[in-house]
Amino acid sequence: KNIVILISGRGSNMQAIVEAARAEKWPARIAAIISNRADASGLEYAAAAGIPTAVVVSKDYPERSDFDAALRAKIDSYTPDLVVLAGFMRILTAPFVEHYDGRLLNIHPSLLPSFPGLATHQQALSFGVKVHGASVHFVTADLDHGPIVAQAAVPVLQDDTEHVLAERVLAQEHIIYPRAVRWFVEGRLSIENGRVHLADQA
Ligand code: GRF
Repeated sequence: KNIVILISGRGSNMQAIVEAARAEKWPARIAAIISNRADASGLEYAAAAGIPTAVVVSKDYPERSDFDAALRAKIDSYTPDLVVLAGFMRILTAPFVEHYDGRLLNIHPSLLPSFPGLATHQQALSFGVKVHGASVHFVTADLDHGPIVAQAAVPVLQDDTEHVLAERVLAQEHIIYPRAVRWFVEGRLSIENGRVHLADQA
């Protein structure tokens, strides 16, 4: 199985997936790491790890649909079985999402359907929830609302700052995202009327 991972910045989730794939000897390879920003520090990690990298810069394309078409062409040049969004900070157009239907994953730093969108940890603190977390989901045209593959919950503590809470959530992201991607490459995931089913074994 070929996996392509899309990043926009640090790429800590990408790193967790790369390391798990190697340590656990998944029946898969990370075919490429692609970023929409040339300055994404995750690209340095990928290059050092010997993984092909590419950059498709958003500002080079006047229309969102032009960017998505260029990104899709670059992704498909690696013939992916799975595309993983890991800290990828772009909203993708419906044609792009439909092209990768059922093989496009994302991680969102909240317990969906709570707190879609940005600044999720601030949303959690402002609302005063006592439990927060992260969600891995299949990407659909409905932003942050695709079928959920995995979630992890963390407590929200009295003196939490946004940064402290984000770090607590991120630690869990690095556990559930590699696990969800491994389930996909093992062929254990299926979607039945909008809900994800995890088979015991493939
Ligand atoms: C993480 O909080 C993730 O949930 C969100 O982007 C943030 C940065 O992720 N999608 P990474 O360190 O770039 O993987």
